[in-house]
Amino acid sequence: MEFTDLLAHRACVRSYKEAPVTPEQIKAILAAGIRAPNACNYQSWHFYAVTDREKIRSAHRNVAYIPWANEVPLIIVVCVREEIVARLCERFGAERGRAFAEHDAAGAINHMLLRAADLGLGGCWIGPMDIEKCKKHFDIADGHTPTAILTIGTPASEPSLRDRRPLSEAVTFVGESVDLG
Ligand SMILES: Cc1cc2nc3c(=O)[nH]c(=O)nc-3n(C[C@H](O)[C@H](O)[C@H](O)COP(=O)(O)O)c2cc1C
Repeated sequence: MEFTDLLAHRACVRSYKEAPVTPEQIKAILAAGIRAPNACNYQSWHFYAVTDREKIRSAHRNVAYIPWANEVPLIIVVCVREEIVARLCERFGAERGRAFAEHDAAGAINHMLLRAADLGLGGCWIGPMDIEKCKKHFDIADGHTPTAILTIGTPASEPSLRDRRPLSEAVTFVGESVDLG
């Protein structure tokens, strides 16, 4: 899909058709994740690609609020690697170091959600979760801390776009301003 169309078309999907995500699609989505910009190219992320339908189904309420979990063929648990967080903290201080790892994860998530949309799939970003339960539920390794869950599958219908506040409310020009319409 043309990039401008992709940006205009992507929206969080919370209802999915009964259709699998193919191994090629899973690989393409994960590969898009690691192309994201990241602090010092330390690549502080680790992804758990979950296709075990029972694990996915039972994550709802046990791990996070995902009422559409029954319909989901793929979950990606996005984690930060604590050993790399420690390196970032050493270099940039505790607050910025951890923030940078979270930024890395967010960049990877956006790449993966856009690639999923590009493949005709859809996804939703889930932030709130019980981190300890998530680790246990998905057998997350020590030293990996979950920061987001992505549900990915074939949208049940064309996702509806949510409005944004006007661009002019999100921007301040320093120097010559541009007419934002
Ligand atoms: C940090 C973060 C946490 C989110 N958590 C949830 C969530 O728990 N449940 C949910 O349905 N959507 C969640 N979302 C998706 C947002 O609700 C969604 O991106 C926003 O409403 C804008 O809609 P759009 O992505 O369709 O444009 C989250 C998004 C972000 C960035």
